[in-house]
Amino acid sequence: MGRDRRTLKLVVGDTIALTPPMGWNSWNCWGCAIDEDKIKEAADAMVRNGLINHGWQYINIDDCWMKKLDSDDPISGGPTRDECGRILTNKRFPDMKALTDEVHNLGLKMGIYISPGPRTCQRYEGSWKHELHDAQRFAEWGIDYLKYDWCGYGSIVRRPDLEQMKAPYVFMRMCLDRIDRDIVYSLCQYGMGDVWEWGTEVGGNCWRTTGDIPDTWGSMAGIGFAQDKCSPYACPGHWNDRDMLVVGKVGWGPNLRDSHLTPNEQYTHMSLWCLLCSPLLIGCDLTQLDEFTLNLLTNDEVLEVNQDPLGRQARRVSQDGYLEVWAKKMEDGSAAVGLFNRDETPKTVTAQWSDLGLTGPQRVRDLWRQKDLGTFTGQFEAEIPRHGCVLVRLFAPNAT
Ligand code: GAL
Repeated sequence: MGRDRRTLKLVVGDTIALTPPMGWNSWNCWGCAIDEDKIKEAADAMVRNGLINHGWQYINIDDCWMKKLDSDDPISGGPTRDECGRILTNKRFPDMKALTDEVHNLGLKMGIYISPGPRTCQRYEGSWKHELHDAQRFAEWGIDYLKYDWCGYGSIVRRPDLEQMKAPYVFMRMCLDRIDRDIVYSLCQYGMGDVWEWGTEVGGNCWRTTGDIPDTWGSMAGIGFAQDKCSPYACPGHWNDRDMLVVGKVGWGPNLRDSHLTPNEQYTHMSLWCLLCSPLLIGCDLTQLDEFTLNLLTNDEVLEVNQDPLGRQARRVSQDGYLEVWAKKMEDGSAAVGLFNRDETPKTVTAQWSDLGLTGPQRVRDLWRQKDLGTFTGQFEAEIPRHGCVLVRLFAPNAT
């Protein structure tokens, strides 16, 4: 038992997603092997495991909830829309409105996925020529988050120029603006045309800056450490998205297994995604969270780096071969600093005040361990294991 207190700030206005969305997405876990029970179980688990108390709130259904034209599959074959053009769900999702209500009744929000193309990535029904119908349908169901995946649109425009890349996103934005519901608008087009430069202009709340993330060190680190270029474009309501978290039990299909990332690699993954103000979408089975993964996802001092209201994305402040230091300014004037060792053996990594734009003594707090390390002047250094990191916050003296 204990006590805690926080000041709650309510902001009213037209911009939503003032901090990066936090939730769960079905794809890295189940791939197409989803049904409404799996979604309900994920929502129940988010509450039961206490994730809901740490800011986690979206339950996002990815691809494969619709029907498939030209398929004789008894579950998903048959007409894809009704006579009014409204999209139909397949038999694994008999009542999307009731499912959404159930998720809402748990205090959570609901997300969905579709493509601007005639088909989704897995060849289910897409929104092509039915964009307004779909936006209306999503609003009727009570959807709070839309992932709009370019994928099948490749059959409409094969080698898009910049305007063609923007067009389907602008169009769905118009449709979302015509319905009476706030829906977080998540662009998924893998970073084409440097989307971070125009994601805000087309009305996106977040946009994927990369291709899909598999659970390997090469992929996670390759994505995470290549994000300096899009830093200036993140701000409240508009976030660079590096794809889902590959921690815990993942599988992209019916058979799940543990993430291939080592524990240190998973600390690096979470620390980077938090420093980078990335939307945090858990990609694993929430009903089978082991203690390590639960701790990884519920450290409030680490999550605060991601959720800081200033919304300033970290920059790489120094690099020495495989050793990197990234820093992010926080709203209270403190700095969140990640010291990373991408090398194969333990190394000492140093954060220099001069690189961080700081002077004088700084109180250093280790965020993963939630422990003050003392007051340091000029620099802070730490011995860091292979592929690991130390995430600290630096406070000027007299600051709280
Ligand atoms: C990909 C997308 C993935 C997932 C998949 C579903 O294009 O990047 O995150 O949504 O489609 O088919």
